[in-house]
Amino acid sequence: MNVRELAEKYKGELVALRREFHKNPELSWKEIQTGNRVEEELKKIGIEVKRIAKTGVVGTLKGREGGKAVALRADMDALPIEEANNDIPYKSKNSGVMHACGHDSHTAMLLIAAKILWKLRDQIKGTVKFIFQPAEENMQGAKKMLDEGVMEGVDAILGIHIWSQFSTGKVSLEAGPRFAAGDRFKITVKGKGSHGAIPHLGVDAIVAASAIVMNLQSIISREINPLEPVVVSIGKINGGFNFNVICNEVVLEGTTRSFNQDIQNRFPSMIKRIVDHTASSFNAKAEIDYTVGSLSCINDPIVSQMAKASIIKLYGEDIVADFEQTMGGEDFSYFNQTVPGIMVFLGVGNKEKNTTYPHHHEKFNLDEDALPIGTSLYAQFALDFLNR
Ligand code: NI
Repeated sequence: MNVRELAEKYKGELVALRREFHKNPELSWKEIQTGNRVEEELKKIGIEVKRIAKTGVVGTLKGREGGKAVALRADMDALPIEEANNDIPYKSKNSGVMHACGHDSHTAMLLIAAKILWKLRDQIKGTVKFIFQPAEENMQGAKKMLDEGVMEGVDAILGIHIWSQFSTGKVSLEAGPRFAAGDRFKITVKGKGSHGAIPHLGVDAIVAASAIVMNLQSIISREINPLEPVVVSIGKINGGFNFNVICNEVVLEGTTRSFNQDIQNRFPSMIKRIVDHTASSFNAKAEIDYTVGSLSCINDPIVSQMAKASIIKLYGEDIVADFEQTMGGEDFSYFNQTVPGIMVFLGVGNKEKNTTYPHHHEKFNLDEDALPIGTSLYAQFALDFLNR
């Protein structure tokens, strides 16, 4: 049997695992039960397991001596969302926690790929590393795994993200930027309280903060090359006590996105300049806490060609489709900025099955018929990369 036939043969098991993970979602850095289940499944297959990065799991399959090493990556964490899919038997049983991004399916697809590759291990020259990453949603897990040496000796990596805005039966493997670099920042604007009717004795943090929100927009319109896609968003604003009190402190929280490393590097100084000067023009002060999240996730052209050839070999040319890049972040970028790699979009959107809700929506769900395709791609890419 070839990889595709094996993936179809194990489809029942694949779907059952996905549903089990879906039913038992865990937040970033809390993937304890999930990690234990992954470890258990890998050991059952016969694969050597190591625990790293707190809740992360790495499986290693050694084939014949002397080859290269390829890594396959899935993420395991869920989101703080109350699931609203009341009609499915595998609805989340952890209240306020939901697999609303499909990481449950990534974990299940990679486990079955491990099972297939174990069966085909005499055909493997080199090593396959199965990376089950914690804490993708807060953009911390990949970096932590990297710091603990997960990519040592690895020559290439492939990751898959299922996507509900992309049709079932399609796979996108373009080279170049796919997910944006995404950072977060917090600005604390400090003024001086007073009576709402006596504003001249205070320093109004709300007026200063409002001006900061507006002035930050000029980063995009006046400081960045208009050909570059960039986002600066304030998503949260908090301050004030009462309608008749001059507010002494406002906290703003926001995010930046870009595909360009130089722009990502420039964001903190651009934001600081505007925030400091705007605040001081109102006699207020401001503090900024800027945190780098993910890097821009850029697919390697050679690995992209190889992965494309692997999937076409199993499913034919028609399975490959172009799909737009997203300003969303993906910390897989830490892996594929270390070694050549690719993040693939796997379509799971199917209107008839009601699986086209956007990611992170409380009714998000996916078309499970697409999952054997993802499993096949993981396994076939590993075989082709190592045996080329
Ligand atoms: Ni995701």
